[in-house]
Amino acid sequence: MTLQIPKQETVSKAELYVNLQSQLRSLLDGERDFIANAANLSSLLYHSLPDLNWAGFYLSKGDELVLGPFQGKPACVRIPIGKGVCGTAAEQRQTILVDNVHDFPGHIACDSASNSEIVIPLIKHERLLGVLDLDSPSFARFDDEDARGLNQLAEIFIAMSDKL
Ligand code: SME
Repeated sequence: MTLQIPKQETVSKAELYVNLQSQLRSLLDGERDFIANAANLSSLLYHSLPDLNWAGFYLSKGDELVLGPFQGKPACVRIPIGKGVCGTAAEQRQTILVDNVHDFPGHIACDSASNSEIVIPLIKHERLLGVLDLDSPSFARFDDEDARGLNQLAEIFIAMSDKL
């Protein structure tokens, strides 16, 4: 399988996310396994979006989030719902953008290189499946365009995968 990953300097952020949507659809076409698709989405994001040091999933299990497929350094395994950026996004069921993780009360530091973070909750039929988490070594790396683009990619992933 060959992926055409456009270089960030040649396309706008909006174009990059549009390209990623079609790449994700091709990547997941014919496969509905949730974990396999989550693994491929984390790899696609990690290798396509500039300036990331971590991209991956935490999946709902009871009142916790448990580490799922990811790219980057080894990370903490269990996050209680309501704790850290991931647990807060899961509890509020809202995308959270953090420009400076060191200012976020209760931020859970997995990789000391992380300075900003975005977390997207994954919801199917009102059920919280988990969260998609991206970290960057740059401050304020993520903006509303990233939030929109990543939410659209998360929707495609959820629609094209059987729930856990
Ligand atoms: N920083 C996250 C924990 C997960 S790592 O960033 C991979 C948080 O505060 O929830």
